[in-house]
Amino acid sequence: MPHAPSPTRYQHSALYRRCGRSGLQLPALSLGLWHNFGANNAYANSRALVLRAFDLGITHFDIANNYGPPPGSAEQTFGRILHDDFAGYRDELIVSTKAGYTMWDGPYGDWGSRKYLISSLDQSLRRLRLDYVDIFYSHRPDPNTPMEETMGALADIVRSGKALYAGLSNYNAEQTAQAAKILRTLGAPCLIHQPRYHLFERRIEQGLARVLIDEGIGGIAFCPLAQGLLTNRYLAGIPADARAARDPRFLKPKHLTEDKLGRLHRLNELAKARGQSLAQMSLAWVLRNPAITSALIGASKVSQIEENVETLKHLAFSTAELAAVDRIVAP
Ligand SMILES: NC(=O)c1ccc[n+]([C@@H]2O[C@H](COP(=O)([O-])OP(=O)(O)OC[C@H]3O[C@@H](n4cnc5c(N)ncnc54)[C@H](OP(=O)(O)O)[C@@H]3O)[C@@H](O)[C@H]2O)c1
Repeated sequence: MPHAPSPTRYQHSALYRRCGRSGLQLPALSLGLWHNFGANNAYANSRALVLRAFDLGITHFDIANNYGPPPGSAEQTFGRILHDDFAGYRDELIVSTKAGYTMWDGPYGDWGSRKYLISSLDQSLRRLRLDYVDIFYSHRPDPNTPMEETMGALADIVRSGKALYAGLSNYNAEQTAQAAKILRTLGAPCLIHQPRYHLFERRIEQGLARVLIDEGIGGIAFCPLAQGLLTNRYLAGIPADARAARDPRFLKPKHLTEDKLGRLHRLNELAKARGQSLAQMSLAWVLRNPAITSALIGASKVSQIEENVETLKHLAFSTAELAAVDRIVAP
């Protein structure tokens, strides 16, 4: 039976924020399919995560060609959900995908050539069972391809209608300014930038955030919970069902140092004093940055999405709270 979306899904009034100076609004929380949507994950759980997110007003789902494992399988999983459950709802969804990391063998399945970006998007559309995606990203800058070639491919993709908007991810401040200028000249302005940003990773504050505001580009912060560290998940050890135990490709037990654990406990105390969970305070903190339109969360359980959406009830920070956060996370 296809899912019947909740009729109350648009009643979270604080949820939609303008993406830079574009016409597009994005939910303050978006759902990413990097983990928990591969061929090895239970389809029923992946489906439940997406359906619950949409029922709570999360209209934006972020994928990349290589998400899985194996690469491509997260797009297939989402394509199945789109087909089986969201057939009548395409116009209520913002679907993004990317190309930039290793996807297939040979010289044309990686980085930022026109050849790779255009053929990768065609493959993604087949896996997603879509005619177009809303946002197509260059997933990382390519030091060996002229910026004009990569941006030219993005602009042509937008012009072809296979993507509605162009995005950048993992470009630094200077690269972003350069790419934005080229894209504007080509008539396909950069909609959005996807950087890593959370309480322990603040590099965007040293330049990129300023560029995004000046250029009118929206920011969508990936790994806003530091892959789960900035939640209650690891406060009392590493649970068997948590990412660091279950799928330690990127988040490894060694990342949970004594020092980090001490800071997490102090942040947790601060969150409690605000009447929030650590995850909620961490998301509110990311969203307080004027360069950030949306926090791009991951989830392994429906209850996590439900908890995270509650963040939106309390986004403001006092000066004293921000100073306390700065002291706790200072290097
Ligand atoms: N552009 C890029 O280069 C790039 C790179 C990385 C990610 N991304 C994007 O960013 C998205 C999010 O990345 P991420 O999954 O690392 O984000 P994250 O939000 O930092 O971490 C998500 C993990 O945190 C835990 N979690 C979430 N809410 C929780 C809660 N309320 N209580 C307890 N634990 C909670 C879950 O861990 P457990 O699984 O342990 O339950 C969940 O899988 C990706 O899906 C992808 O779309 C982009």
